[in-house]
Parts: sequence; C-alpha cells; structure tokens
Amino acid sequence: MSDFLLFLGRFHVVVLHLPIGMVLLTAIVHWLSRSARHNSLQQVLPVLWAFTALSALVTVVLGLLHFGEGGFSGPSVNAHRLWGIGFALAVQLVWFLSVFNVVLYQRWGGLLCAALLIAVTITGHYGGNLTHDPTYLVEYAPQSIRQFAGLDERRAPVTDLALADPWHDVIAPMLQSRCGSCHNPDKQRGQLDLSSLDALLVGGESGAVVLPGNAEGSDLYKRVTLPESHENFMPAEGKTPLTQEQVQILGWWLDAGLPAETSVSALSVDEETAALLSIELGLSPVPVMVAAENYPALPEDMINQMVASGWLVRPLTRESNGLSVSINAIGQPASRDMLALLNQASASMVELNLASTGLNDDLLAVITDMPVLEILNLSNNGITDAGLDTLAGFENLQVLNLYGNSAITDGGLEKLVSLVNLETLYLWGTAVSEAGLMGLQASMVDLEIYAQALPR
Ligand code: HEC
Repeated sequence: MSDFLLFLGRFHVVVLHLPIGMVLLTAIVHWLSRSARHNSLQQVLPVLWAFTALSALVTVVLGLLHFGEGGFSGPSVNAHRLWGIGFALAVQLVWFLSVFNVVLYQRWGGLLCAALLIAVTITGHYGGNLTHDPTYLVEYAPQSIRQFAGLDERRAPVTDLALADPWHDVIAPMLQSRCGSCHNPDKQRGQLDLSSLDALLVGGESGAVVLPGNAEGSDLYKRVTLPESHENFMPAEGKTPLTQEQVQILGWWLDAGLPAETSVSALSVDEETAALLSIELGLSPVPVMVAAENYPALPEDMINQMVASGWLVRPLTRESNGLSVSINAIGQPASRDMLALLNQASASMVELNLASTGLNDDLLAVITDMPVLEILNLSNNGITDAGLDTLAGFENLQVLNLYGNSAITDGGLEKLVSLVNLETLYLWGTAVSEAGLMGLQASMVDLEIYAQALPR
C-alpha cells in the first residue's frame, strides 16, 4: 500500500470521533423532536443523519486503510472491523428511512437510535483495545469489575523486596506500561506480544526475542539499548522509553535466565540490583539482600593477573570479599590458561558467568573445585552429560544455568542430584525429556526448574 494511503489511514484515529459525536447528537435531537414543543426539530433530522452516515462511511474507509498498515491481529481487530462496518451500514439505512419513509422512521426511530448507540459503543470498545492494551480500561477497576472483564486479581503492591516476583512485579508491569500499547494480544507490532511470559518466549516475526541467560544476545535488550535515533530502537515512534535503571533491571532479568514465579530473595541478587529493584518498586530504604558473609581477600596481584587474562572480576558487595567473575569480552572463548586461573580464586568465587565461552567437557574440567560458588552460568556452551561430573565438587551451588547446551540429556540430570543446595536450574535448549525432568523434580522437590521451551 502506498505511503500516502497509509498516511490517510492514520487519520482514522482522529476522524472516528466524528460519527460518535454525530450519532449521539442526532439521537438526542431525535428524542427531543418527539415532544410537541420541539416538533420542528424533525426537519433537521435527515440532514443530521446524512452527516452521521457520511462521517461513518469515511471513518470505515480510513479504518480499512489503517488496517492495511499491518501489525493488527487478534480477536479485537476482527470484532472492531465487523462492528464498525455494521454500524456504518446501519446508519446509511436509518438515513434513507428518515428521508424516504418518514412513517416507518417515526415508528422505529427511537429503537434504531438506541441500537446505533449500543453498536458505536461496542465498536469503540474494541477499537480502544487496539490502541491501549486490552486491560487498559479496567486496570484500576474494583476487583468485581476486573473479574467480570476476565482479569486476574490485581497483585498486591510489593512492600518487601525479598518477596517480589521478578516477572510479575517488576518486568511485566514495566513492559506493559512502555511496550504494551504496541505489543499486546490484539496489536502485535512485529508479531510480538509482550503481555505474558509465554507470549514473550514465543518471540516476534524474526523469531525469539530473548535468550535466557544472555541479555546482550537478546533482541529485546538490544532494541532498548540502541541509540534512541536508531530506527530499530524500542519503544518505536518516540514513545516514552525505559529509564536507564529499567534497562539495567531488564538486563539483569535476562542474564538471570528470566526468573518468574519465584522471589527476589531466592535469587540472591547483588546489592546494586537490589537497589535498582527497590527504586523500581517504589520501596525504600534499600534493604541489603546479600548477607555480608565473608570470604578470604584475594591478593591484588592475583586479581590483576585474572583481569589481564580477560576476566572481569567484581566484588559482590562493598562489605564482602566474595567475587563475581565473568568473561570481559562477551562471546570470547575462555582458554585453558584462563580457566586455570579461576582455581586460585575458588575460595572467594561466589558467582561465575561462563556463558558463551566455548566450553566443552574437557575445558570445564580445568575448573577443579569451587567450594563457595553459589551461582554458575554455563549457558550456550558445548557441555555434555559427562562434563557435569565436574560440578560434583561445587557443593554450595544454588543456581545453575545450562541453557543452550544441546547435548545434555536425562543422564546428565542424574549427576546434579548430589548438589544438595541447588535451588534453581535452567534447562532451556537442552535435550532433557519430560520424564527426565519429572525424575529430577521427584528427587529434588524444592528445586525450581525452568524448561518452558521443552517440546510437550
Ligand atoms: C509505538 C509502537 C511501539 C511501541 C510502544 C513498542 N514497539 Fe516494539 N515494535 C514496534 C513495531 C512497529 C515493530 C516492528 C518493526 C520493527 O521490527 O522494528 C516492533 C518490533 C519489536 C521487536 C522485534 C520483533 C521481531 O521479532 O521482529 C522487539 C523485540 C520489540 N519491538 C520490543 C519492544 C519493546 C521492548 C518495547 C518497549 C520498551 C516496544 N517494543 C515498544 C512498535 C512498537
């Protein structure tokens, strides 16, 4: 469709107010004209109906042009289109009656007015669903009305960061307010719906938009971190963007493997993230999430040596000597020598991110023992079941991300049973089966396993 038609189509959202106003006005004049005092108003009715009919027709044509722009799909779109066209046709009919069959018009006019008002309200409601996300109108409604509209109970406001659910309380509301107007079930720009975690995982027209455990590799994250002037920047069309802090939170959430149906406390977030989350949730003062457990301080030259070899080494908190280590250049493979350096720091290594570092079983085995390690990200590597033997000595491990190690099977899961402190396990993109998962869950009842993308 030509740009000019698309340009015209956008005026649908302006012009549509005309038939709404006109049908309301005409209905009022119609009812007034029934009284003896305002009888003379009957003369203007055909003119009013003519205007109403014309404005409805123009609105429908512009609406169809607007629809041609694409990006509209879902039940509300069809309903809006059908009701809108139906309304416009009905108004033409009433106009003809008012001109050519006054007797019939006098008899049925009142009823017709009422029917048209109902139809225009329904049309408007479905149209509204397209410009706002469908829950916009009733978001702050009393629970009884929300229930009637088919919405879940509104989540109680978070008062304690530790109990906040990262998806439901933080990320979902953020995406809804900044992205929801264009990425909802009814209006899926780029064929992307961000209104639920399932929909988010489905992705958009160019496939997956998130890689669990890998913010930098996620299209969703790239889109919000581009320069605002870039054509792919999101939100599009100059809509209010995410704040710097919200972008950081989104990055944290993606790196953490899209945690949902859990709590912030279960994730042992670092102090900086805790502060960001508190701000986002409107909480203060900022609670300290990580117990200031202490670890031996690593000699300066040892840290320098690690940094020089390509590791990014950060203290976990200001009070603690615990370390969080990741590769400095994302996507760079970790060499045998680099991995060997990690062993020297094992007494203080609490977090280790080895995502996309080209690991295989052999390389992983270079890391011999990590007694205090709590969080280990091994996503997007080539580790197999045999490689998981290496983890047997990581007795403090709480969070393990194996996303995208496609050779890991049920046999590998059995080796994880010895990790008694394991709380969270990410298994997207591995070859484990439903049965394997159930077996693991049966032997580790409290373990939270994330493996949504498994074929069911
Ligand atoms: C004003 C409308 C609008 C808003 C608001 C908006 N988007 Fe988009 N989005 C689009 C359009 C149009 C496309 C398709 C064109 C494109 O790919 O750039 C798109 C595409 C995308 C895609 C690519 C989907 C795919 O698979 O190709 C992602 C990811 C995305 N948006 C994320 C976001 C995020 C995150 C937000 C909120 C911060 C957001 N969008 C807000 C209009 C919008």
